[in-house]
Amino acid sequence: MDSKVALVTGAAKGIGAACARRLAKDGYRVAIHYRSSPELALALQAELPHSEVFCFDLSQEGSCEALVKDIKLKMGRLDVVVNNAGIALDQIITFAKPEDFDKTIQTNVKPAFLLSKFASKLMLRNKWGRIVNITSVVGHMGNSGQVIYSGAKGAITGMTKSMAMDLAGFGITCNCVAPGFISTDMTDGLPDEVKQKMLTQIPLGRFGQPDDVASAVSFLVSDGSGYVTGSTIHVNGGMYRS
Ligand SMILES: NC(=O)c1ccc[n+]([C@@H]2O[C@H](COP(=O)([O-])OP(=O)(O)OC[C@H]3O[C@@H](n4cnc5c(N)ncnc54)[C@H](OP(=O)(O)O)[C@@H]3O)[C@@H](O)[C@H]2O)c1
Repeated sequence: MDSKVALVTGAAKGIGAACARRLAKDGYRVAIHYRSSPELALALQAELPHSEVFCFDLSQEGSCEALVKDIKLKMGRLDVVVNNAGIALDQIITFAKPEDFDKTIQTNVKPAFLLSKFASKLMLRNKWGRIVNITSVVGHMGNSGQVIYSGAKGAITGMTKSMAMDLAGFGITCNCVAPGFISTDMTDGLPDEVKQKMLTQIPLGRFGQPDDVASAVSFLVSDGSGYVTGSTIHVNGGMYRS
């Protein structure tokens, strides 16, 4: 088993599951990370040849280092990291809770930093690696009521550009995919009037699907993307371009 290994965090559902399926199709052995969806994670593992499941709450101290160690032990290597796991705790600045800010940083930003850090040590040895961070259109354009979430996603974008420079000499690329409005559990609960308003702001006239995001991730982890680093691919139906 010497084919490359791709870790996708939050892979049991939504955008993460679409990325896991796509990377398996691309020939990767997939490390399926989940936190609280064991049935979905195990069903996905049954679907994807040579995949393994790993359960961690990434906001907990020590979990990211342990996850990378476990992947190395069980799968022998780690070549690609897709930092996808994330939460959105929404409120306008006046009422936003400091504890929600901390929780969002611990769940969205710190794991992207730590997993990239620990995985890069393994990638350096092979002089090849791909790190893809899932950010968001709101990290670029802001959104009322999403001060915490947009701050976290903006932080990941800046961090990715610096990592790209740190690792450029070692065949390791670091990029972001910034989705717009994608139909998943994260957005399904929004009131219909909010969804209809959103739709009017999307030039392509439809919400995105998880597979739309997975296609961009698939390109960024391919050999063909080797000259692309420190960049963001916007997958938002034309809502915003940088
Ligand atoms: N949907 C959109 O419109 C949209 C737009 C822009 C960006 N995004 C970003 O895309 C990514 C995926 O979101 P999604 O839409 O697919 O939402 P989702 O279905 O709610 O998935 C979120 C994932 O994050 C994982 N997760 C949450 N807290 C975690 C923790 N403490 N430790 C480990 N894993 C944790 C969940 O794992 P478990 O289920 O196992 O708990 C879940 O798989 C997120 O980073 C999100 O910010 C989404």
